[in-house]
Amino acid sequence: MRTIPMTLLAASMALALAACGDRQDDAGASTTPSTDAATAAGAVTPPADASQAPGATDMTTTPAPHTVAVLSATEGNAVTGELAFEAVDGGVAITGQINGLAPGSEHGFHVHETGDCSAPDGSSAGGHFNPAGAAHGRVGAGEHHVGDSDNVTADDTGVAVVNARLEGATLADGAPSDVLGRGVIVHADPDDYATQPTGNAGARLACGVISQTGAQAR
Ligand code: CU
Ligand code: ZN
Repeated sequence: MRTIPMTLLAASMALALAACGDRQDDAGASTTPSTDAATAAGAVTPPADASQAPGATDMTTTPAPHTVAVLSATEGNAVTGELAFEAVDGGVAITGQINGLAPGSEHGFHVHETGDCSAPDGSSAGGHFNPAGAAHGRVGAGEHHVGDSDNVTADDTGVAVVNARLEGATLADGAPSDVLGRGVIVHADPDDYATQPTGNAGARLACGVISQTGAQAR
């Protein structure tokens, strides 16, 4: 009777632990493709080491740590959010959600040069991330900063679903275009994609730092 909830609890804990932390261990195990080698050599040894085998074959996807930014409100604001970053062909994709915006409002959204949100107004994040010395602009429409991204728009509950793309950015490769460790800013006003060098997007409502969440301890 009481074993059922305990079993469910144990199962959900195992799933939670497996979701992130075990990935690197499995990737390490996959560097020993012993099954094929043993078969080819005619070995008939039973797979005594089977505890490693299933995970090693299932988890061959990119073992990269999660890259995220948690957005915190600047002083006098209530805008928060969570974003995930992923390297894609030609840039970096940003997905996630921003909360606490005015319903239906549109907001400038950029990666800024410095991953420092310590200033009450977010000014410590510096200007738009611009390693190539380009003019401010719009992704997909000619010259722009690497940190430039399209505006985000809140729905009627004040939530903006983010599905953005940085063109020319890279992630965690140490290149000049690497956005890891830099800042993310949500502005009070829309970016007009033209005014130099800011897009005239106004005050900073929220700020976050692009960070890697390393493998969790088991
Ligand atoms: Cu900005
Ligand atoms: Zn810009």
